[in-house]
Amino acid sequence: MNNIISKNVQDIQISGIRKFFNKVAKVDGAVSLTLGQPDFSVPEKIKKAMIKAIEENKTTYTSNAGIEELRGEISNYLKKYFNIYYDKEEICLTIGGSQGLLSTFTALINSGDKVLIPTPAYPAYESCVKLLGGKVLNYYLKEDFSIDFDRLEEIILKEKPKVMVLSYPSNPTGAILSKEDRDKLYKLIKDNDTIVVSDEIYSSLTFEDEYFSIVQYEDIKEKVVLVSGFSKMFSMTGLRLGYVCACERLMGSIIKVHQYNVSCAPSIVQWGAYEGIKNCLSDVEYMKNEFINRRDYLYERLTALGFEVNLPMGAFYMFPSIKGFNMSSDEFCERALQEAKVAMVPGSAFGNGGEGYIRISYSYSMEELQEALNRLEKWMSKEKIG
Ligand SMILES: Cc1ncc(COP(=O)(O)O)c(C=O)c1O
Repeated sequence: MNNIISKNVQDIQISGIRKFFNKVAKVDGAVSLTLGQPDFSVPEKIKKAMIKAIEENKTTYTSNAGIEELRGEISNYLKKYFNIYYDKEEICLTIGGSQGLLSTFTALINSGDKVLIPTPAYPAYESCVKLLGGKVLNYYLKEDFSIDFDRLEEIILKEKPKVMVLSYPSNPTGAILSKEDRDKLYKLIKDNDTIVVSDEIYSSLTFEDEYFSIVQYEDIKEKVVLVSGFSKMFSMTGLRLGYVCACERLMGSIIKVHQYNVSCAPSIVQWGAYEGIKNCLSDVEYMKNEFINRRDYLYERLTALGFEVNLPMGAFYMFPSIKGFNMSSDEFCERALQEAKVAMVPGSAFGNGGEGYIRISYSYSMEELQEALNRLEKWMSKEKIG
């Protein structure tokens, strides 16, 4: 009976982030900084637009790609704020960024195809690729979580991967793509046959004025797919809306997978996001500024406790090093949970390159962050850690 489950499914695990989150529920009074879920409410105008959509019976299937109105607004938004040019025909609404990623990978990957994935990275990339029978190759990042181009170039030339994942702003590190690195990547992609899947779901939460992405180059559009979404942008993780942008040739295949998988994204939520992208960008700005305040607070407290930390420039995660504390990331997080009652995610949940680090999400309130840091400080001083 062991063989009833697909071998590819047997080969993947439930995400380490969820595993740790589930453990926290069993520890009485623990403060959790584990999830990537903003603590803000969905903007009021989005709620009202969804209620109105229900009242107007906009509850039928939409076209597979999603309502034209929203796709048109996404096209305007990407152009205006990110210098990214996609026509509404090149955009497909998906059920969160997650379904956008899986549909894209399914359209591209044959069993045995090589896929380059950064490490540390969001764990879904590796699992999706394994689910499809693809072969994962990792590229390691430098100490500051930027790309090590010498190693990347070597692996691309030697292994000739079919697909490469880029993930900026990054979960778990909070790093963003610099102009210099974007330009180097462009050259590499232009000169090779690898297709880039660029996950930019945190793009609205970038703390610098200028935004850089590989998707900004028109002449390599045939080789890139952009995956993004509204979960983090409008603090609507449970409403499940994302999108994929790709040139016609790639989109034609991605949408085939999407159609047979889900038909379309939820109609009501599409109308909510349509209102959001037109009229709620000031709410996003407000949330971003709050995240910057929390980031600064967390950075100051952690460095004072002896952690080595790269200051994140996007998303809402910090990825401090614990290499100086003589513990694995699992051990550190387990002890912090049991002894200090503070829950954080071991870096090992983000792949081989994550060992030696812990991920702290600051999508939690300032009060929770303060309480967690006070507890950590007490525990570390008592146990003489750091
Ligand atoms: C980097 C990254 N990509 C994609 C996703 C999935 O987003 P969604 O909830 O919209 O499916 C997440 C969620 O945490 C993420 O961190």
